[in-house]
Amino acid sequence: MDHGITEECALNGFFSPAQRQRLLQAVSARRSVRAYRGEPDVSQMSALHYAAARCCLPGVRIEIGDTDPRLLFRRLPVVGGIQGTGKFAAIIADTSAPYSALHAGVSGEAFILEATALNVGTCWVMSYRRKEFFLPLKEGERALAVTPLGVINDVNPGRKRKKLTDLCVGDPAAWPLWAYRAAECVRQAPSAMNRQPWKLSYAGRTLMLSRAGAGGTEVDMGIALLHMSLGAEDHAHVIRWGEGREIASMVLEEET
Ligand SMILES: Cc1cc2nc3c(=O)[nH]c(=O)nc-3n(C[C@H](O)[C@H](O)[C@H](O)COP(=O)(O)O)c2cc1C
Repeated sequence: MDHGITEECALNGFFSPAQRQRLLQAVSARRSVRAYRGEPDVSQMSALHYAAARCCLPGVRIEIGDTDPRLLFRRLPVVGGIQGTGKFAAIIADTSAPYSALHAGVSGEAFILEATALNVGTCWVMSYRRKEFFLPLKEGERALAVTPLGVINDVNPGRKRKKLTDLCVGDPAAWPLWAYRAAECVRQAPSAMNRQPWKLSYAGRTLMLSRAGAGGTEVDMGIALLHMSLGAEDHAHVIRWGEGREIASMVLEEET
């Protein structure tokens, strides 16, 4: 990054208004699904392949494959294992490309929300068995996360979220409505171990997303960034990368 010049994020203008609306609608329906009763049907699979190709920011690709879920996924305490479908998608980042892990969070979450809109269950999984991953990777690439894809067979009501006031610096009720809604959309985002490692602050037409505490992966940050942008709905905005704990700022454009 150049000194004193913040770079614009590749997310700006990347998704069409129609796709943004579809993704936003899927935000409240999405939750992590670990129990499935089969694989997506042929038309869902074809739409998933199309979505995988359309969701990827530079330095990211999403590949769909078949697996034995008992081998690829670990059984975790409390949430259990993933069972009932052999289809999965991998979110792969070229580690030499700028912002690739943050882009992987944005792109993977966009893909997961597309799957939700198709009524296909998903679950972000970072803790999978690397040695059971067999899709070919190019030099410098890493599969940062995988998700099963299948027919939902559980009644998971979704995990709890922190209060909005605990995610925000200052009182979000005093912010303009677009900033409040964008923050609320971040609150609904999934995160590794449900840590919700985000802080949001508002000043002068700018909503800032920062990393809270020590936890939180770049993927978590990218996921939150997509939610922040979607939550601004059709208010035109520009996203610029930040530095250090400040991940990115979203500046509202003047409305005419
Ligand atoms: C980056 C990331 C990594 C995750 N890794 C795992 C995982 O390895 N295993 C798992 O069962 N769930 C994993 N999850 C799912 C989270 O536990 C889940 O999103 C969170 O508890 C919130 O629940 P919800 O998705 O139902 O709203 C992950 C989520 C994210 C965003």
